[in-house]
Amino acid sequence: MIKIKDLVHRYTIWENENKKSKKTVLDGISFDIPSGQFVAILGANGSGKSTLAKHLNVLLLPDEGTVWIDGKDTKDKEKLWKIRTEVGMVFQNPDNQIIGTSVEEDVAFGPENRNLPSQEIRGRVTKSLDAVGLQSKRKVSPSRLSGGQKQRVAIAGVLACMPKCLVLDEPTAMLDPKSREEVMKVVHELNQERGFTVVLITHHMDEAVGADQIYLMKEGHVVKCGSPKEIFCETELLRELKLDVPQVTELAYRLAEKGIPFKLPVLKEEDFVEQMKAVCQSEDIERGR
Ligand SMILES: Nc1ncnc2c1ncn2[C@@H]1O[C@H](COP(=O)(O)OP(=O)(O)OP(=O)(O)O)[C@@H](O)[C@H]1O
Ligand SMILES: [Mg+2]
Repeated sequence: MIKIKDLVHRYTIWENENKKSKKTVLDGISFDIPSGQFVAILGANGSGKSTLAKHLNVLLLPDEGTVWIDGKDTKDKEKLWKIRTEVGMVFQNPDNQIIGTSVEEDVAFGPENRNLPSQEIRGRVTKSLDAVGLQSKRKVSPSRLSGGQKQRVAIAGVLACMPKCLVLDEPTAMLDPKSREEVMKVVHELNQERGFTVVLITHHMDEAVGADQIYLMKEGHVVKCGSPKEIFCETELLRELKLDVPQVTELAYRLAEKGIPFKLPVLKEEDFVEQMKAVCQSEDIERGR
């Protein structure tokens, strides 16, 4: 679905009116994301994650190298709108993405801009609101919604344009834990039940645990790629990149250091509870209870 080869991006920095310099922020990135995969991109502030995301729907073009979306080169001007349709972007701040005075008007905005017949638009709005579980809020003003609901409206707006791939740049950064959870649930459902390819940029390690692959970025490079289990074993590397491991993973590591027999890494709360129960049971047996 997404193929990147030797991508280099340089921003122009104007030091004053006459003097400019170039800053390389993506420095030879190559990877391949198959259709239907869920990829999480992690990296410290300034490592180039958002710049990379902007290459995926042609908000930026490569200075060197090539980005293909479903086989289409992003430098091909004739394919620009097709690519922008195929890759839907969701950003951090839901308030900046909402335009309509009602939820349905907002979700209809993308298809309306494509001059589609009104029946088709209504159908797409219904399907998109179903996908994010907000049909009941159809007539409500977005200003009356919670942050999580607003972000789900933003996702529905993207879905109404019928993309194949969703690129979400820190979609939960401004949300409370409950809203974060509801947005992540929708994103996982879209991937697992409806087959969307997902690229999720996040600073929340627990959101990366459910990904198929995690890419670690440092100073414009992808320094490591692997499954969540492979990545969260790399505690040294994560520390070097100023990233944490999920809280539950950290707790299991610490308990294992104290001699409690955990199978590491533990990524999810339910696995932690399972292993803890097994430990307690074997202690009971040893004490003859
Ligand atoms: N428009 C721009 N002009 C010049 N430099 C920029 C521009 N946008 C980003 N940068 C710089 O490029 C580097 C990478 O920025 P980018 O926003 O891609 O990082 P990021 O990994 O998304 O960071 P964060 O986690 O803070 O969102 C940073 O040093 C940033 O200051
Ligand atoms: Mg960013």
